[in-house]
Amino acid sequence: MRVLVTGAQGCIGAWSVRKLLDRGVEVVTYDVNAERPRLSLIASEEELRRVEARVGSIEDTARVKALVRDGGITHIIHLAAVLMPFCQQHPVQGAMVNVIGTLNVFEAARDAGRPVRVVYASSSAVWGPGDAYESRKLNEDDPLKPATHYGVFKQSNEGNARVFFDSNGISSVGLRPWSVYGVGRDSGLTADPTLAMRAVACGESFEIRLSGHMDLQFVEDVAETFLACLFSPLEGAHVFNLAGDIVEMNELIALLESMRPGAARLITARGPQVPVAYRMDDSQLRAKIANIPRTPLKQGVEKTLAHFERLKTDGRLA
Ligand SMILES: NC(=O)c1ccc[n+]([C@@H]2O[C@H](COP(=O)([O-])OP(=O)(O)OC[C@H]3O[C@@H](n4cnc5c(N)ncnc54)[C@H](O)[C@@H]3O)[C@@H](O)[C@H]2O)c1
Repeated sequence: MRVLVTGAQGCIGAWSVRKLLDRGVEVVTYDVNAERPRLSLIASEEELRRVEARVGSIEDTARVKALVRDGGITHIIHLAAVLMPFCQQHPVQGAMVNVIGTLNVFEAARDAGRPVRVVYASSSAVWGPGDAYESRKLNEDDPLKPATHYGVFKQSNEGNARVFFDSNGISSVGLRPWSVYGVGRDSGLTADPTLAMRAVACGESFEIRLSGHMDLQFVEDVAETFLACLFSPLEGAHVFNLAGDIVEMNELIALLESMRPGAARLITARGPQVPVAYRMDDSQLRAKIANIPRTPLKQGVEKTLAHFERLKTDGRLA
C-alpha cells in the first residue's frame, strides 16, 4: 500500500499524513507549497523524513498522472484545493485547482495500470443556505443548491467521481466536512474558531469574523474519517455528509470562558452567518463505514487549547 496525499501541507492533509505515519503506511505527498508549516507542528523531523514529499500543482495533468503511475500509488487522499473566498473572487483559477485538479486525480487513478482507490474532500458547501431547506436536517438524498462557486465546484467533483465509477470502475468516497477546527487550521474564513482558540492560548484578543451557527468538526476525527474511508472495501462512488457539533459563536465564546477564565474578554464575534445549511445527518456514513470517531466539542476544544499552549511554551507558535 502506497498512499498519495494531495494538499498534504494543509490542515486536514497534515493530520492525515500524521495518522498514516502512525499506522506505518508509506506516504507520498504532493502540494504546491514546499514548506511544512502545519506538519512540522504535529510531527517530528525524524517522522517527516519517512514522507516522500513532491512539490507541484494539482492542475499539472502530466505530472499528477506520472506521479501516480510511476510512483506505485495504490490509494489517494485528495485534498488539494483553494477555499471559498478565493473561489468567489477568482472563479476561473478556483475551477482550475478544484475541478481540473480533481479530474487529474481521477484520470491518474484510471490510467495507473493498477487499481487505485480515491477518497476526496467534497464540502458541505454543496448545500445552499439553511432557509433554502426550511432549516431541516439534510441527508444525501436532499437536492443540492450551492450558493457559491466553491460549492458548485465541489458538486461538479461529486458528479465526475460518479461518472469515473460508472465508466471506469474507479471506487471513491467524497466527504463533506462543514468546518474543521484544531491545530493547523489557519486558512479560510471558517478557520476563525480555531484562531480564537489559538488567541486564548496566547492571551491575545481576536474577533471571529462570523456570527450565528457553525458545525465544528475536530481535525483528528476528520483525518481518521478520511483514513477509514480509504481502508474501507466499499465499492462504488459514494458521497457522505460529515457532521460534528453545532455551536452558535457566542456559545463558543462562553465555552472558552468556562475552560480558560478571561477568554470572553479576549474573543468577540461579528459578521455574517456562513451561507451553508448546518444541520446535517451523517448516519449514512456511519452505517457504511466502520470506526468513524466523533470527539465531543468540549473535549476537542480542550485538546486544541492544550496543544496550542504546549506549542507556545516550546516557542513553536510564530
Ligand atoms: N477545513 C474545512 O473546514 C473544510 C470544510 C469542507 C471541505 N474542506 C476541503 O478539505 C480539503 C482540505 O482543506 P484544508 O482545510 O486542509 O485546506 P488548507 O487550505 O489548509 O489546505 C489545502 C492545501 O492544498 C494546497 N494547494 C492549494 N492549491 C494547490 C494547487 N494548485 N496544487 C497543489 N496543492 C494546492 C495548499 O498548499 C494547502 O496545503 C479541501 O479540499 C477543502 O475544500 C475543508
